[in-house]
Parts: sequence; structure tokens; C-alpha cells
Amino acid sequence: MKNTYLDLIQQTFYFPQEGFDVKNNWLHFNGIPLKQLIEEYGTPMRITYLPKISQQIQKAKKLFSNAMDELDYKGKYYYCYCTKSSHFAHVLDEALKNDIHLETSSAYDIDIIEKLYLNKRITKNTFIVCNGFKTNVYTQRISKLANLGFNIIPVLDNKEELKEYEDRIINDCQIGIRIAAEEQPEFQLYTSRLGIRYSEIRSFYEQYVQTNPKFKLRMLHFFINSGIRDDIYYWNELTKSLKVYCEMRKICEDLTALNIGGGFPVRNSLGFEYDYTYMVREIINKVQTTCEQEGVPCPDIFTEFGSFTVAESGAHIFSVLAEKQQNDSERWYMIDNSLMTTMPDAWGINSRFILLPVNKWSGEVQRVNVGGLSCDQMDYYNSEAHTNEVYLPRMDNTSPLYIGFFHTGAYQESISGYGGIKHCLIPSPKHILIQKNGDGSLSYEEFAPQQTVDSMLEILGYDKLE
Ligand SMILES: Cc1ncc(COP(=O)(O)O)c(C=O)c1O
Repeated sequence: MKNTYLDLIQQTFYFPQEGFDVKNNWLHFNGIPLKQLIEEYGTPMRITYLPKISQQIQKAKKLFSNAMDELDYKGKYYYCYCTKSSHFAHVLDEALKNDIHLETSSAYDIDIIEKLYLNKRITKNTFIVCNGFKTNVYTQRISKLANLGFNIIPVLDNKEELKEYEDRIINDCQIGIRIAAEEQPEFQLYTSRLGIRYSEIRSFYEQYVQTNPKFKLRMLHFFINSGIRDDIYYWNELTKSLKVYCEMRKICEDLTALNIGGGFPVRNSLGFEYDYTYMVREIINKVQTTCEQEGVPCPDIFTEFGSFTVAESGAHIFSVLAEKQQNDSERWYMIDNSLMTTMPDAWGINSRFILLPVNKWSGEVQRVNVGGLSCDQMDYYNSEAHTNEVYLPRMDNTSPLYIGFFHTGAYQESISGYGGIKHCLIPSPKHILIQKNGDGSLSYEEFAPQQTVDSMLEILGYDKLE
């Protein structure tokens, strides 16, 4: 009978597949022997496989350059990394090896830009696209960089924002305008709270920018929360934004860039299917045909891919501490950390990640619920992107079962907070960085140990108790 975990996977998906392979019943992730890693560092553990970040960037750049070459598209492509998806220095360091640009979303992001510049990771030619609703501190910092000659593009979230730069920015400055997209039909609200309404962009430009010698409208920006997907909603929003671009381009020669935001999908299941080549080609084709019909030059295309850049570099590895049978059908695998705090998107917005056992692939499978250590009812995981169930190998008495959640490298630490206080004081796992050497071997570095009790008690003020 074929009922091992490996059988199940091979019957359900093409396996092995990019990034995942099994040797001697142990999982390898991007060629990393997880057995060795667990033996050296133990669990719970978070890993970041840095080369994946460069691979993803190169993949996107190739997709866009192939589509542009094929269609003889006249604009250029600029890859920006959206720093909010993971602010770690090691992530930026790796990403910036690939001749890319950056997108910021808050005041402190600008301090990261300054650090990167001082450490020669970027130059003043690197585009810094500044998004978000700007606080006073954020506009001050943006203005400072503009005055220092950085290639900065503040993207106006609202009409009032321009006034903030009027007095503060001395030099000429290029600006962008964010178009407020319509939300997807199933969302509670109609229009994004970010950006300026389609219908108000032209009059705002004519009244405040066109006649202003200091500011040049260089970029229109739009971002669709549900991501770059082949559905009516996406194509509809792209069409509307292109209409605005063409209308504005006719009255503004400085407008040379269309920023299509982030939202490039990430593999969240071994059964993930997304035709990246088709989507990029269709987007470029649509931009080009619309511009040709309207008789305006094609814009340079900017993207701000966050998850796509960094998600697939990350994984969380846990031990199953115990099995609990709570009624006839509900069996729990209790793991050695909290899912809610290590992967908050799983409960907060129902994101799915690739869940696989690390060992025991020749063991029999059973349906389980994976339970986290916090007391919260929602600290569990029991459905995958392709099915509303989770199957894992049976436990046995010979050795512990280890499991991994893969492609968890984007947003998780910034949503739950890295370090700091955690639900039920369950500490952040240790964090291991993995790099590939020139000879193909791997090197491991412990970026952070498991969070200590002292660090938590200090935040909570216990060190000040008399
Ligand atoms: C303006 C903007 N650009 C880019 C991104 C990155 O999106 P993703 O991580 O889906 O690529 C976001 C995410 O919220 C965003 O708000």
C-alpha cells in the first residue's frame, strides 16, 4: 500500500521541485540539508537563504526585459525593492547586489536609506520612491534627501502633501502621484484610502504642479492590494490607470514613469501555478497598445516587489513536542513555538505557506491540526492553499518529528514585531542566515539567538522594580 508521506506528495504534486527535495527521508530546502541545520542549531529556528533574494530579482528583471525586447517596447524597466516587506540589513545587502532601486513607506525608512548610502550600498543615482501617507517627520526626512541630491521621488498620497515640500525642498524635485485604486469587489470599502482619486488628478496637476517651477511630475503610481493577478479586477484597474497616464502624458512631458506597485505572487503551495511570463508580457503589451492608441510615448515601468523579492528566502522550522487527540477526529501536533507570532499572516489574513515535514517522509500520513504554544484559540494551522486539510507523518518513538513552514520571509517579523514582547511570552526563535560560497558550499551564521527572558523582562520594566 502506498501511504507514506512521500507517496502522498508524489501523487499530489510534481516532486521534487524547485527548492524542495528529499534525500534519505530528510527534506532539503534550496539544497540546504535541514537535518544538519537542526543538529547544529536546534528548533525552533528561522532561516533566511540569502541567494534566493538575488535569484528572485534576476528572475523578474529577465521576465520584464524579455517581454520588452519581444514587443520592442520603448520604455525601460526599474526594479525597486519595497523595504517594508523585510527591513533586515542582510536582506537589503543581498538585494542591492542586483542593481536595483528602493521604495520606502515611513520616516524611519529614510534613515535606512542614509545608512545604505554611507555604507556605499546605494548611490545618489538609486531611485528612492517614497510612498505612504506622510507624517511631518517623514516629509522632513524626504526633503533632506532631496536637498542632498538623492534621486528621490516622493509619491503624493494626497493633495496637501505637496505643500510640505514647497518650503523645505530647495532644488528641483521630481514627484509622483499615487492613484487611489478601487478596492476589490469583496472588500468592505470601495476606494483605497491611499492616493488621490482618478477624477481629481488632472485638476490638481494643472492647479498646483504645472505652473510650479520646482516640481516635475515624473511618475504615476498605482497598487492593487490583491496583487498582480489574471482577473477582471486587475485588468480593469490597470486600464483605468493607463487612461490617467495617457491623459496626463498629453499635458505633461515630464511624466515618463508608470509604477505598477508590488503584488507579484509568491509560491504558497507545491501546487502553485502562475504564469509569470504570460502576466508580464500581457502587462507590457497592454501598456504599449494603450499608449499607441492614445499617441503618447510608452512609460518606463517601475515595480516595487516586496513579497516576491524576499518571501521565498525564508522558512520556520519547529519540533512537534507532542500529539494530542481531543475527540474522535481532532488530532493535534503541538509545536515548540507560537504560529500566531512567528507567522501572523496565517491567522490575521489567512495567508497560507508551504508546510512540509522535515523528516519521516517514509512514515505513514495522518490528518492533523498544528497547534502553537500560546493560549489563543486562533494559534493553529490546519489548511493549506490547495486543500482545507493538513497531512503530516505519524509520530513514532524513535526520534522527534520536525516540520517546516516555507516561504515565510516577507512581512512576518514586521507584523508581529521582531524581538519585543510576544503573546504568552513565547520567545522569537533563533535566526540563521545562509549564504552560498563561490565553490557551492553553504555557510551558516547565527544572526540572532532565541530571544532571552532578560530582554523581555527589561521591556516590561522588571529591571526597574525596587
Ligand atoms: C505601495 C506599495 N508598494 C509595494 C508593496 C509591496 O507589495 P508586495 O509585498 O505584495 O509585493 C506594498 C505592500 O503593501 C505597497 O503598499
